[in-house]
Amino acid sequence: MNSKKRHTVTAALPYTNGPIHIGHLAGAYIPGDIYSRYLRLLERDIIFICGSDEHGAAIPIRAKKEGLSPKKIIDKYHNEIKKSFLDFGISFDNYSRTSAKIHHETASHFFSDLNKKNIFIEKTTDQLFDEKEIQFLADRFVIGTCPKCGHDEAFGDQCESCGSTLNATDLINPRSILSGNKPILKSTKHWFLPLNKYDSFLKKWFIIDKKETWKSNVFGQVKSWIDEGLKPRAITRDLDWGIPVPLKDAEGKVLYVWFDAPIGYISSTIEWAQKEKKDWKPYWQDPDTELVHFIGKDNIVFHCIIFPCILHASKNYILPKNVPANEFLNLEGRKISTSKNWAIWLNDYMEDFPNMQDSLRYVLTTNAPENKDNDFTWKDFQAKNNNELVAILGNFVNRVAVLTQKYFDGITPEISSFETTDLIILKEIYSYPKKIGNSIENFKFREAVNLMMELARTGNKYLADSEPWKLIKTKKKEKVNPIINISIQICSILAIVSEPFIPSCSKKLKIQFNVKNINWNDFSVERPLIPKKINKSDLIFRKIEDEEIDFQLKKLNESEK
Ligand code: MF3
Ligand code: ZN
Repeated sequence: MNSKKRHTVTAALPYTNGPIHIGHLAGAYIPGDIYSRYLRLLERDIIFICGSDEHGAAIPIRAKKEGLSPKKIIDKYHNEIKKSFLDFGISFDNYSRTSAKIHHETASHFFSDLNKKNIFIEKTTDQLFDEKEIQFLADRFVIGTCPKCGHDEAFGDQCESCGSTLNATDLINPRSILSGNKPILKSTKHWFLPLNKYDSFLKKWFIIDKKETWKSNVFGQVKSWIDEGLKPRAITRDLDWGIPVPLKDAEGKVLYVWFDAPIGYISSTIEWAQKEKKDWKPYWQDPDTELVHFIGKDNIVFHCIIFPCILHASKNYILPKNVPANEFLNLEGRKISTSKNWAIWLNDYMEDFPNMQDSLRYVLTTNAPENKDNDFTWKDFQAKNNNELVAILGNFVNRVAVLTQKYFDGITPEISSFETTDLIILKEIYSYPKKIGNSIENFKFREAVNLMMELARTGNKYLADSEPWKLIKTKKKEKVNPIINISIQICSILAIVSEPFIPSCSKKLKIQFNVKNINWNDFSVERPLIPKKINKSDLIFRKIEDEEIDFQLKKLNESEK
């Protein structure tokens, strides 16, 4: 692990305009959680920070649709989302929200400070305006044809088809989301962040400072943005939902959601520090802190260009060490879509599969869209649950527990002397924590979770090959002792190394095998994990039946809009 003193880990703040689905979980929250849990197991000074993103056009639009006030909408989904994170064991140190007073203050302060430093350009330009609704249209309030790829439902800020970041006025044939009408152009004043002025800063930070070690999907996207040449970007909007621009001559204007939201990471850290009676500053300002942002690919430019420019211009802030953004997860071969209701919502999953959050965490990790878009299918979910979690990991720990009860009354048999074959297997099993840790440190979570399962598979094979159930009936009865002893050690290692991936199972394993919390690096062949006795326990995983999968497929197809 790198030698930084401290870690600030963030996961994208979800919009509170609806519940969250498996795509969100796979994209940012599970990877961020694996990384954070691992760092805690190394006993590092680490905070894992998130919160709800409650501004932006998405909120009033949703409010209109549901016939509720924006405030009602954010409260409803903030609570739902927060609960889903809890259900899935996403271990944030703080989960805040951008409607919180501390966030309004922090974001306003950032704006005022940059304004005082004369960083912004004030410009009056023509913007799209809906005459019927008497409202300016930007971002999600307007759709039209993408000038880059021709997709005819591109949003005013982004085309979801080709991923381009757009300005609303770039759209060909724009239409208002509110009235459906063709907008007119009307002039209005805004504050712009002159990204073009940060060209050399960005080139140095990004290209010269070896960011090619970043994931290639992230590096490529950012580099092409920089190469295309950056333009000033408006960071205020004419809207009545958001953080008011903290200036006298800015009535009716709010901060652009992508200006305020990333600052939410900082205000959430401040909130945490106040609760914990700690100083927040080192987590954002000490160069000995490693900052890592976990996000999905649609957030790359904001985290790798715009927010770094804001931090740089604000002075004294650290910049991200890495932004391991994931690609998208599809569902049954199609793009996940909130508006078409083509998704698996986390609250629905928990209702249908109570206490099975780890099964979904596991499958989403083995299947994570780390380097390319990937597909989630219910059949694959069932297969991985049944053939891996149940048949390999679950089966192994259960067999070890049953055999220990049966032959030794639950007491770990002692080994008087090791044979060479024992030493070989011991060396092998204790090599896993290091290997898994390396993969996690390199953001290769699929590789990491596969290694964890490989350890369980090794255990299963070891038992099957050494056949203690046959030996116990022979004169070589004492040979059963090392087999069970070593198998218990494998279970104990599994109890620890499974924690980042499947934390509630890990907890059960720790109880069953009497494994104490121990630093990830503090056990080895020389300092083995050998609990004195093991406890009885229920099965940790359960099989998923065909009918359950058929039901889910039916439900998905029927609820599609
Ligand atoms: N709400 C945004 C999304 O869901 C992510 C915001 S990330 C932050 O795409 F950096 F702005 F917080
Ligand atoms: Zn496009």
